[in-house]
Formats: sequence, C-alpha cells, structure tokens
Amino acid sequence: MKHDIYSTEGLYKIIEKADLSPTISKHVIYAPLIAAKAQPGHFVILRSRPGGERIPVTLVDWSPADGTVTVIIQSLGKSTTEINAFKQGDSFSDVAGPLGTPVEIKNWGTVMGVGGGVGIAELYPIARAYKNAGNKVISVLGARSKALLILEAEMASISDKIIITTDDGSAGKKGLVTDAMKDLYAAGEKIGAIFTIGPIIMMKFVAETSRPHATPTFASLNPVMLDGTGMCGGCRVEVGGKSRFACVDGPMFDAHQTNFDALLKRTAAYREQERESLEKYAKDHNCKIGLH
Ligand SMILES: Cc1cc2nc3c(=O)[nH]c(=O)nc-3n(C[C@H](O)[C@H](O)[C@H](O)COP(=O)(O)OP(=O)(O)OC[C@H]3O[C@@H](n4cnc5c(N)ncnc54)[C@H](O)[C@@H]3O)c2cc1C
Ligand code: FES
Repeated sequence: MKHDIYSTEGLYKIIEKADLSPTISKHVIYAPLIAAKAQPGHFVILRSRPGGERIPVTLVDWSPADGTVTVIIQSLGKSTTEINAFKQGDSFSDVAGPLGTPVEIKNWGTVMGVGGGVGIAELYPIARAYKNAGNKVISVLGARSKALLILEAEMASISDKIIITTDDGSAGKKGLVTDAMKDLYAAGEKIGAIFTIGPIIMMKFVAETSRPHATPTFASLNPVMLDGTGMCGGCRVEVGGKSRFACVDGPMFDAHQTNFDALLKRTAAYREQERESLEKYAKDHNCKIGLH
C-alpha cells in the first residue's frame, strides 16, 4: 500500500490494541513515516494527549507496507496507565521517531538474548534480526509469574533454544535469568555476545554473570528521557567512566562498562512525585492499576 506522507489523516491512530497481561498492552499505531525508517533498537517518544508526558517506548515491530508500528507498554505510572486504557480507534496526539542508535546486526555465531518483564518485547526485534543474520539465538526470558510472561510464542519462533524462568516457578524453571545463564555456561555453551533488556537490577546482574567469561554484553539503558534528541541532558548515563546520552548514543551500551548503580539512583529521583501523580490519577479514575 502507498501512503501519502503529507496526509495527517488517521495519523497515530491505534489500528489494533490487545492486552497481553493484566498490566501490559500492545498498540499497533498508524505512523507511516516512522514505519518506513524503523530498525531494531529504535524507540519513539509518544504523548497520549496535547501537553501530556513524553513517554519513550521501544519499537517492537513495524510494517512499511501497512504504515504501522507496534509498541508494547507496561502500566507503571500515571501516563502508561492512561495510555493502556486507550481503545482501538483512539489516537495518540503525537509520536516522534524513530529515535536512538539502532543495534548493529552482525554474525556473532551464537547470540544470547536475556529479557525480563516488558523487556522481552523490546528484545524481540533484536533477537529476530540476529536470527535473520544467521546467528544461533538462545533466549532466556524471565518474569515474576506466568501471568506476566509475554511473547513466549514469538520468541520461540525466532530462537534455537528458549529458557523460561519465573520467580514463583509458575512457568519454566523457578529462579532468575542469571541462574539459567550460569547453567548454560556450565554446560559449555559458547556464546558470542549477550543482549539484555529489562529491569536495571536484572541487567546489572546479567553483566556480572557474563563478566568472568568475558562475553561481550550489551544492555539497553532506560534513564528518564525528555526530548530524546540529545538536547536536555536528562538521560545522562555513565559508561566507561564517561557521560553518555542514552537517547542518541544508545540506548544500547557495553554492559561491562556501565555504572548501573548510578543509573538506579537517577531513575529513583522522582519516585515520590511519580507515586503522587499515579495516586491522584487512580483516585480520579477509580482504579487500582499500578498501585502496589
Ligand atoms: C529508551 C527507552 C525505551 C523504553 N521502552 C519501553 C517499552 O517498550 N515498554 C515499556 O513499557 N516501557 C518502556 N520504557 C519505560 C517507559 O518509558 C516508562 O515506564 C514510562 O515513561 C513511565 O511513565 P509513567 O508516567 O507511566 O510512570 P512514572 O510514574 O512517571 O514513572 C515510573 C518509572 O518510569 C520511569 N520513567 C518515568 N518517566 C520516564 C521518562 N520520561 N523516560 C524514561 N523513563 C521514565 C522511571 O524509572 C520511573 O521511576 C522505555 C524507556 C526508555 C528510556
Ligand atoms: S533525553 Fe534529553 S538528552 Fe537524552
């Protein structure tokens, strides 16, 4: 299908919406210019309404033919809860992108993808690109419980080996993704590179697990972002002792060089304001989602 790039008709409309878990939803959005340029590792910044918060989310899939991009969003605070309440046919007020530096796709032999929570969705396009480039792909996916595990079938379809871990043992092996990594190393698996996306604390321990084996390891860093174009400095991260901007220099960086403790501290800086904002939203909309 050909799209009139100058037409704004239907722009940023949700063509399809699906709930993947109680707190995670998939949105297929009409955004033809972004779909035409998207590559693995790119993200967009979207707003649910004019004046709304700017929310960075990773492109999970895209179709230049249909003019659509797919994002998968976890309800965490006020804005993501608001977005996941959208229905098919609703529209975002704006979607900016594609942003960030795409991941370099090459042949490492064997690539291990380690995803946690909604990070599994962010890992999917990267793992798929490595599979298509001829790598053997091993996927290690972790979630708190079976109900929160997403994209298992999609990840299985592009993986040579898939290992599931859950904190409570309700799916796959009971334990952490790092336990599965240790088992693979102990079994003599030769791993060319590791890509990890998920909670910061998980990525920190993935890096610590691969460090003694000197396996090149890359983590997708998720500091608070504002403009997403390298102008505001809000997404500053420390990699190799230097300040880097995750929105333009990343978001994928060498995990062995990343100061995860500094990142954990920076992302917690607005926790009190975020909680207040979510509490007010939940009270106004009579809902409990995201509050724990
Ligand atoms: C490059 C990148 C890609 C991302 N991809 C995805 C994705 O594919 N799916 C998904 O569910 N989430 C993704 N995130 C995280 C998502 O942006 C945050 O969950 C969201 O901004 C939270 O907004 P909120 O108002 O709902 O929550 P808030 O209550 O405002 O914040 C909750 C937590 O979210 C983080 N956060 C808040 N505001 C921002 C911001 N402007 N930028 C980054 N993080 C923020 C902070 O850690 C904060 O503690 C990504 C983040 C980055 C930086
Ligand atoms: S988000 Fe502003 S510099 Fe990266």
